[in-house]
Amino acid sequence: MCGIVGYAGKNEVVDFLLSGLYSLEYRGYDSAGIALVCDQGALEVVKRAGSVSHLDEAIKTLGLNACTGIGHTRWATHGEPSELNAHPHVNSDNTLALVHNGIIENHYVLREELEAKGYVFKTETDTEVIAFLLDQEYKKLGSTDMPQALINTCKQLKGAYAIAVCHVDYPHEIFAARNGSPLVCAQSNQGAYLASDMIALAKYVDELIVLDNGQFAHLKSDGSVRVFDSQINSLEHQTMQVDANNVPAASGEYPDFMLKEIYEQPEIARRIVDGHFKDGHIRLDGLNISDADIKDTDRIFIVACGSSYHASLIAKSYIESVARIPVEVAVASEFNYQDVLVSEHTLCIVVTQSGETADTLSAARKIKGLGAKVFAITNVIGSTAAREADGVLYTNAGPEVSVAATKTYFAQVLAMYLLALFLADKKEKLEPQDIVNAVSSLRKLPQAIEDILKDISSYEKCAEVCEGARSALFIGRGVNYPTASEGALKLKEISYLHAESYPAGEMKHGPIALLEPGFPVIVVIPQDQTRNKTLSNIEEIMARGAQVCALATEGDEQVKESANYTMFVPAIDTDLTPLVSIVPLQIFARKVAFDRGQNVDRPRNLAKSVTVE
Ligand code: AGP
Repeated sequence: MCGIVGYAGKNEVVDFLLSGLYSLEYRGYDSAGIALVCDQGALEVVKRAGSVSHLDEAIKTLGLNACTGIGHTRWATHGEPSELNAHPHVNSDNTLALVHNGIIENHYVLREELEAKGYVFKTETDTEVIAFLLDQEYKKLGSTDMPQALINTCKQLKGAYAIAVCHVDYPHEIFAARNGSPLVCAQSNQGAYLASDMIALAKYVDELIVLDNGQFAHLKSDGSVRVFDSQINSLEHQTMQVDANNVPAASGEYPDFMLKEIYEQPEIARRIVDGHFKDGHIRLDGLNISDADIKDTDRIFIVACGSSYHASLIAKSYIESVARIPVEVAVASEFNYQDVLVSEHTLCIVVTQSGETADTLSAARKIKGLGAKVFAITNVIGSTAAREADGVLYTNAGPEVSVAATKTYFAQVLAMYLLALFLADKKEKLEPQDIVNAVSSLRKLPQAIEDILKDISSYEKCAEVCEGARSALFIGRGVNYPTASEGALKLKEISYLHAESYPAGEMKHGPIALLEPGFPVIVVIPQDQTRNKTLSNIEEIMARGAQVCALATEGDEQVKESANYTMFVPAIDTDLTPLVSIVPLQIFARKVAFDRGQNVDRPRNLAKSVTVE
C-alpha cells in the first residue's frame, strides 16, 4: 500500500513523478504529494488530499522546475486521509523531505523521545517520526553524511518500510532504504529512478535493480545507483528485466477496468491451458519441484488472503479429489500466529496475485523458517513472493488494474486445477487418459465464458434484487461455497452493501433468522450432486418471503420457476463450475455498485496491493 517514486537526473522531474504516481495509484489513492529540490537549492513540497489528479491540477498552476524529486500516493494507515497527513513529510527546517510505504510499529515510543528533544509533530502519521529521526541523525553527524544518517535512522525503526529521501544539501541525489515494503531502482543515461513497482518505471528503463530487505540505495543525477548495506559496503545489484507485457493498458472500449478484465477471462483460459498442456501431461516447469518431492508429499498447506483465499478453498477440493492429498487452507494473517505443524513431507503454497501481500509474505517466511519449501502462485513476474519462493506458478492473467480481483481470481482457480491434475499425474492417482479427458473439458471453458459474456444484460437485470437492500446473503455448497464467498466479497467491496456467504446447508443453523420479505439471497446452484438439497434451500427462503436470485445451469427450469431471478450459465464439467459461476457474480456485483453510484475500479478504503500487516 502506498506508492513511492523518485528521480535524480538531467530532465525535469515533475512529469515523471506524476506519471509514476498515476501508475501506482492502485496501491492507494487517498492523497498524494511530491517534493522537489529546486534549482535554487530550495525544497518545494506540494500535497493534496484525494487522487493524483488533484495533485496534478495543483502542480500545473505552480510552474515548478527541478531535476530531483520524490513522490507518494497514500493509503492511510496512521492519520486520516488529508492534505496534512499526505507525504512527503519534512523536517522543521524544510531541508529534508521523505516518503514512506509501510508501518513503523514503534512510532509511539520514537515520537515521545523526539518530542522530549523538542521536535514538534504536525501530523498524525507514523512517517513524520522517520523524517525527524533522520533530521536528528544527520545533524548528529555534522550534517555531512546522509548515507550513515539513514542507516542510523533505520536501525531504530521497527516495522516495514520503503523510504525515499531528498535533501537540499544533496540537490542532485536521492537516498532510499528498504525493509519489508517493495522498492526497485534503475540506472540510465537520463538519470536514476526509484519506485515501489516496475510499472512506474517501465516507460523509462529496461532493467531494474531490486532492493532486498536491509539494503540502501544512493541515486545520483549522473544516472548511477549504488546499493549498500548497513556497513556502507557496496553490494552487487540484483537485476530484473522490465516486463512490458505486465504494464497495464488503458481500459479502451470498456467503461472501466473491471469490465475489461471480466471480458479478458476467456482468453486467459485459453492461454493457461495451452501454456501448460504438452504431450498428454500438465507441465508446470517454473514450480521447480521434483517428482521425488511430490511422491513424498503427504499434506499440503495453502496460505492466502481475500479472493486468493477463496480460490485456494476451491483448490483444496480439486487437489483432495484428484490427487488424494489432504489440503489445509489458511488465511495468511491468522496462519502467522498459529502453531503450525509442518514436516519435510508438507508442501506449502502461497497464493497471491500481487505477490506483495504482507500477510502472505510473512506466512511464506514463517514456513521457510520451519524448514519447508514454499511455492508461490502469483500473477506478477519478479514479485517478492516469486523471488522468495522455491518455485513459482505464474497465473499469466496480465496486469489487473481494478482493485477487485476478477481475472486474477479466475486464473488462480484455473492454475490450481492444473496443479491438482499435475500432482495427480505424478502421484499416479489418475490414468493418462483421465488427464487428456480433463483437458478436453477445460478446452470448452473459454467458449462457455464467451457465451456468458455475449449478452450480460440478463445478469445485470438481476441486480434489481439488491434494490433498497441493506444486506445480502450468498449461499452455495461444495466446490461452489467458495464461489458464493467470492461473490459476496465482490459485492461488498465495490458496492458497500453488506454481504455474507454461508454453506447453503448452514442456513437452517442460524442465518435463516435474517430472512424477511424482500431480503436478497443469491444461491449458487449448478447441476451437480448438491443441486436438489440446494433447491430445498431455495424453497425455504421463498417460504419466508425473501427474494432468491439463483445462479443455475442453463435449462434448469425448475430452479427458474422457484426463484425470483435466475442467472443461467452453460453446462460444464462439475469441477469447472466455479470457473463459469463466478463470471455472472462479477457482473452482478459491478452492476449493483454502478447503480449505487460507486467507482467500481477504486473502491473506498482499499488498495490493490496490501503491503502492510
Ligand atoms: C479482492 O477483490 C481483494 N481486493 C482482496 O481481497 C485481495 O484478493 C487480497 O488482498 C489478496 O491479494 P493478493 O492476491 O494480491 O495477495
